[in-house]
Amino acid sequence: MKVAVIGSGGREHALALKISQSPLLEELFIIPGNPGTKKLGSNIALNPDDNDEIVDFCINQKIELAVVGPEKPLTNGLADALRSKGIKVFGPDKNAARIEGEKSFAKKLMEDFNIPTADFKVFTKDQYQDALHYLKSSRFPIVIKADGIAAGKGVIIADNFEDAKAAVDDCFLNSAFGSAGDKVVIEEFMTGQEASVFAITDGKDYVVLPAAQDHKRIGEGDTGKNTGGMGAYAPTPFVDDVMMREIEDTIIKPTIDAMRETGNQYVGCLYCGLMLTQEGPKVVEFNCRFGDPETQAVLPLLQGDFLKLLYSAASGTIEKTAVSYNGGSSVCVVAASKGYPGAYEKGKEIKGLEIEDPQIIVYHAGTKEENGRIFTNGGRVLNITSVIKENNLIKAKQKAYEGLSKLYFDGIYYRKDIADKALKNRVD
Ligand code: AMP
Ligand code: GLY
Repeated sequence: MKVAVIGSGGREHALALKISQSPLLEELFIIPGNPGTKKLGSNIALNPDDNDEIVDFCINQKIELAVVGPEKPLTNGLADALRSKGIKVFGPDKNAARIEGEKSFAKKLMEDFNIPTADFKVFTKDQYQDALHYLKSSRFPIVIKADGIAAGKGVIIADNFEDAKAAVDDCFLNSAFGSAGDKVVIEEFMTGQEASVFAITDGKDYVVLPAAQDHKRIGEGDTGKNTGGMGAYAPTPFVDDVMMREIEDTIIKPTIDAMRETGNQYVGCLYCGLMLTQEGPKVVEFNCRFGDPETQAVLPLLQGDFLKLLYSAASGTIEKTAVSYNGGSSVCVVAASKGYPGAYEKGKEIKGLEIEDPQIIVYHAGTKEENGRIFTNGGRVLNITSVIKENNLIKAKQKAYEGLSKLYFDGIYYRKDIADKALKNRVD
């Protein structure tokens, strides 16, 4: 089979690696890919946001499956464009991708179908005064979210009215998030452990992958600014079998059914960002794609044929036994450039990449290659990931940091507490 993976981050490196291990694979293209994916297939320097370029390439190369990594091409209609030419796609159509692209769409769906999530209200720009009025009688903290995609910066947790008003002003008056902020969702602040669960679906049936936990804040102990994710581990002990069953019954199955029943059949990875509250699991957000960096931790734990799973889902009848999880632990630590998620420098040479340890995978993200040397080229640079056969997060954590200690670039920054939330609450 000829397969194209769209995207260039650590997530796409992880997808490409897993796909490259399938006996079904004939040829792999990564568009545009990164220096890590270059070893697994052919990197193709096309713009993932240019649907026409990608469709032309896939037709010319007779691609049989396109796997779309990031949200932007999906909300931009890349899956629709490819499907209209008869190419199978793992990833939702534009309408279904609204589950991530328009938070108000996702919230309304959850309200209509009784899917547990934070209580909320939606306001449009012309309801500015109503939004302030609502905030005056609200309890704090409260969460203000720009409706559209705002590069992970559109969520503000406000501790008091002034901060909440500033967030609404940013959306409605200062256009800080462009048109993504023309609507806001104001929602109840939830507390509990967070978990990320991926449901792979053909639109009707699904399989869940081992649950992961992300670390979104830049600083240790979950302090400082929000980032794209500074590390993840899997599986998380906060989602045991009983909890997973509850998540499936109350969230995953009803959401997939609701999407289909409302004419938005969802094919791809439904990312469920969850808060495990006292009242049970509730949805923080849905994403229309695999999570980054959770994917880097989850995929290496899977046995079986991952490509078969994706292809069968994209073909309309998912092969639920194509992959399985039979134990093991994984910890992924993100090595970032100093300054991220604010301004940072690029172009620092990376040393020590030649780690030869079967328990360590170094996924590339913001890197570039020049004359065989690798340099930093982004905020999140590398994902150092351990994979061990035992269910032992302590060992997996040690292994990931052992890998990290061998790598170096000027200004390297990483959190030292990835997986600690699980280790502090350990039950084994
Ligand atoms: P999102 O971009 O929707 O994932 O939000 C980013 C982060 O903000 C989440 O991972 C949570 O840590 C936090 N967050 C979002 N919504 C809520 C909420 N209703 N209650 C508490 N924390 C939230
Ligand atoms: N790790 C969070 C996300 O992929 O949105």
